[in-house]
Amino acid sequence: MSNDRHVPVMLQRCLDMLAPALERPGAVVVDCTLGLGGHSEALLQRFPEVRLVALDRDKEALRLSGERLAPYGERATLVHAVYDELPEVLDRLGIPKVDGVLFDLGVSSMQLDEADRGFAYAQDAPLDMRMDQSTGISAAEVLNTYPAGELVRILRAYGEEKQAKRIVSAIVREREKEPFSNSARLVELIRDSLPQAAKRTGGNPAKRTFQALRIEVNRELEAVENAIPAAVKALAVGGRVAVLSYQSLEDRIVKQVFAAGAATTAPPGLPVVPEKYQPRLQLLTRGAELPTEEEVAENRRAAPARLRGAQRIREDVL
Ligand SMILES: C[S@@+](CC[C@H](N)C(=O)[O-])C[C@H]1O[C@@H](n2cnc3c(N)ncnc32)[C@H](O)[C@@H]1O
Repeated sequence: MSNDRHVPVMLQRCLDMLAPALERPGAVVVDCTLGLGGHSEALLQRFPEVRLVALDRDKEALRLSGERLAPYGERATLVHAVYDELPEVLDRLGIPKVDGVLFDLGVSSMQLDEADRGFAYAQDAPLDMRMDQSTGISAAEVLNTYPAGELVRILRAYGEEKQAKRIVSAIVREREKEPFSNSARLVELIRDSLPQAAKRTGGNPAKRTFQALRIEVNRELEAVENAIPAAVKALAVGGRVAVLSYQSLEDRIVKQVFAAGAATTAPPGLPVVPEKYQPRLQLLTRGAELPTEEEVAENRRAAPARLRGAQRIREDVL
């Protein structure tokens, strides 16, 4: 594992944001996206008393991080799970509340670098894109079996692809001749189906379609929609959650969940807001924080990162 290829994004900022919660005695932190363990190892180092629970849906990531974090012994518990299973995982471990939660959303650099997993449009590979290869359907199955209208919806919603109809018409025509299996054929088809003007902007024209397929295959937005509220619920008062996202759809969900938690739920016009309507969260970031120019210069994968944080300030009042 080469360290410079897997530099954890906005690491110092994430650690500083979680610090006030993790410096408390007996603190537990959950890394919902263990990946190669960069953030997790830094958490264990910076907070020597902290217990870490770390989740990933990718068994290969768990295997590699397991080796990396072995020196920390029982301080680190690694679990194969989708992060929206966080409540069940904590339940099984007998942990009622946690002090910190970190999400570093998206694909890991290892997943992108392993050409045969089919995430990268720059290399020809089987169109798989599953982060957990033991379950679910592959990108090829999505392309070959979804109705055209559904594919258009996915490309528009998850890829923000303006040429979705044109691309999907070409996909449907081609899949009738021969089902898709590899990425190169799809990349070529997208390139051929777009008008010149659309090809001149926004980098590789296949980028948006690949993002859309990946989000669909891994049900990424549903998972984020469920997981962020679950993380907030799992936090003890004073606990903190930090979320790094890499595309606007994810960031929007995070922003909305945090904003809802930081707002009063009182009906308008109450002279005094009763406890049960008071906000449960306090925002730790004004808008989303971005990586510094120096970080982006050293690690281009940090470029699209957006960091948001919030602190739990009140129990749920029933
Ligand atoms: C950007 S990487 C994390 C990198 C990590 N912070 C590090 O420093 O090495 C994201 C990881 O989250 C995992 N992941 C993505 N969606 C997930 C989900 N719904 N549940 C669990 N893990 C998920 C991916 O398999 C990937 O390993």
